[in-house]
Amino acid sequence: MTHQPAADTLPVYLVDEAHWGDQGSDGLELSPGARAYARATGFEPKAGRLLVLPGGESGVEGVLLGVGSDAGLAAAPFALAKLASELPAGRYRIVGALENPDLAYLGFLLGQYRFSRFKSAEVPAVTLVPPEGCDEHTMEETARAVNAGRDLINLPTNALGVDDLARVVHRLAETHGCSAREIAGDQLLAQNFPLIHAVGRAAAVAPRLVEFTWGDARAPKVTLVGKGVVFDTGGLNLKPDNAMLLMKKDMGGAAAALTAADILMTLNAPIRLRVIIPIVENSVSGSSFRPGDVYTSRKGLSVEIGNTDAEGRLILADALALACEDSPDLLIDFATLTGAARVALGPDLPPFYTEDEAIAGELSSLGIAINDPVWRLPLWKPYATMIDSKIADINNAGVGGFAGSITAALFLKRFVEEKTSWVHFDIYGWTPSAKPGRPEGGEPQAARLVVALIRSKYG
Ligand code: BES
Ligand code: MN
Ligand code: ZN
Repeated sequence: MTHQPAADTLPVYLVDEAHWGDQGSDGLELSPGARAYARATGFEPKAGRLLVLPGGESGVEGVLLGVGSDAGLAAAPFALAKLASELPAGRYRIVGALENPDLAYLGFLLGQYRFSRFKSAEVPAVTLVPPEGCDEHTMEETARAVNAGRDLINLPTNALGVDDLARVVHRLAETHGCSAREIAGDQLLAQNFPLIHAVGRAAAVAPRLVEFTWGDARAPKVTLVGKGVVFDTGGLNLKPDNAMLLMKKDMGGAAAALTAADILMTLNAPIRLRVIIPIVENSVSGSSFRPGDVYTSRKGLSVEIGNTDAEGRLILADALALACEDSPDLLIDFATLTGAARVALGPDLPPFYTEDEAIAGELSSLGIAINDPVWRLPLWKPYATMIDSKIADINNAGVGGFAGSITAALFLKRFVEEKTSWVHFDIYGWTPSAKPGRPEGGEPQAARLVVALIRSKYG
């Protein structure tokens, strides 16, 4: 689709180092005044440099955006995100060729996000004509879903409790023409979800599992599972204040799963999608589960509680067991599972685990290609002894505290059928300091990546 630039749009000139120079040789249609201004302010077309050129009727003649060497914008695929946060109000169009118009436009849209539920954010109304050659519908729907996922993570627990998150799942299902089923409170015991019940039973709002299925029953079965801990106090193994402060984001896995599902359904992916979200608040009360307790899980494995703060793997264990009961072709879970993953790889590069070599390769390269990067860590079998229990089949917390993200993944693996193709993402779910296209705050990491994987596998 081509876009006729409206007369009242302002040009954003992409300026590369090779062509920026003497008057006219760069092919930019700049007024002499604008050119003199750029020279006087010492503008250099280094990647990411931005200069607003004064002039014209609106006060802005145009904008220069440095792209560095020719590869500059390719190396920083979300470089247009700066426009969203730094330009004066107005409608802009890109002049010049973009390496990847889809990602450039998506970066712009994702850069516009602010969490404004409780405080109106001062963002100028900047809009961008979708750049030539981009699939604007896909990018706009993707940005909408990612921004909705960000909202879920950013919402504090008093605004997004167990019941609220459950309602979000119901609403998403209904938006796409299906309806979710919910198993809550004592029904979790009656229907054999002992671990979800144990983790969530101390909270004022009853724990639950919410799930729905969408799409053609004959299509490949893809199941997404997300950790929905709306707040993680640690339970009786209470977290210290600094570690608890951000634990509203402990439903980041659920947000990522819902974001991916939203995009897949919106784009009508040719799959039979199942979404399973265990939702709890890991709270403290007289009915808390305890260190030393032993519970028999849905799968039949007995689990000794070494630490009530290793709650995510417990609720996922029952959810993954349920997921495997109808033999999905692909099973993917997302969870803000361990602090150890952050120690290993930092906040922006979530580790993933799988034994499917083809998928591992695809995830690594797609992650770079779409700017949703991940890094593979091993399901290192010898470390499984760290989660042995003397009195049960398995312990939920490793001894020694070594390789915490790996032992958590090995724990989950025990609840997944051997034959099932399975991927686990240990995400942080949060951007601690803003980067292009990634405002500070909630981020449903790996959601876009999973969409890319599924579209590459199934069309
Ligand atoms: N939700 C946390 C993990 C987490 C902490 C993610 C900080 C991101 C940032 C999880 O439930 C947890 O508490 N994990 C423990 C496990 C330990 C007790 C075995 C951890 O990582 O310390
Ligand atoms: Mn915890
Ligand atoms: Zn947690």
